[in-house]
Amino acid sequence: MRHKLIAGNWKMHGACADNAALVEALLAAERLSGVDYAVLVPAPYLAQMQTLLTGSSVAWGGQDVSEETKGAFTGEVAASMLREFGCRYTIVGHSERRQRHGESDSLVAAKARTALAYQLTPIVCLGESLAQRESGETAMVVRQQLAAVIETLGLEGLARIVLAYEPIWAIGTGRSATPEQAQEVHALLRHQVAAESQMVGDNLQILYGGSVKAANAVELMTLPDVDGALVGGASLVAQEFLAIGRAAAGAR
Ligand code: PGA
Repeated sequence: MRHKLIAGNWKMHGACADNAALVEALLAAERLSGVDYAVLVPAPYLAQMQTLLTGSSVAWGGQDVSEETKGAFTGEVAASMLREFGCRYTIVGHSERRQRHGESDSLVAAKARTALAYQLTPIVCLGESLAQRESGETAMVVRQQLAAVIETLGLEGLARIVLAYEPIWAIGTGRSATPEQAQEVHALLRHQVAAESQMVGDNLQILYGGSVKAANAVELMTLPDVDGALVGGASLVAQEFLAIGRAAAGAR
């Protein structure tokens, strides 16, 4: 049975006092069996998360990692640094980075490889644009994005990642994928991995991301191939985020 993961992508939001209040509310909530929580925070707040969350059931992580391990790479964050601040996860390949920073499929795969080398679990994001969906290219686009990951990581690496399907047109728009759209892509991604190894495919955690909120969490979290959510806006509101977790727990 795959566990569900509810991961909050805070993006470039936060302030020490607000973070503390949000995390306190998460820690005060009941622990649900079969559901793991994580918060993915701006790098300057990793130390705060380490202080507040060590020993709790909420994991934390970064929102990106360098494919390089150290050196003259101004502004980048190394996997070893994320480890030093207790991170379990890091996002790689979020569409906001693919688009704004020109990150290619192969760069994203390289970042995932570096994360794994430092015992971090990369949450590898992929997904199609609206134009690609409207021209019927969704399957081709996501398959290609996943193929780069499979090629770089191999089966051993694939067994240690989390995948997140995030249709770009659903991110921050209030318009999530329909359950049918989400399930179709999740099943397709799982089959692509299962073609390499049935066991790795069966065990792969695939999160859905894109306007997940309390109001649509039940219909999305009950889908057979959806193993949790990567939550942006709603992760900044404790009650919303926790409600998504409850929906995922009920879906087991
Ligand atoms: P959203 O963002 O939930 O605000 O749509 C999701 C994401 O970008 O990870």
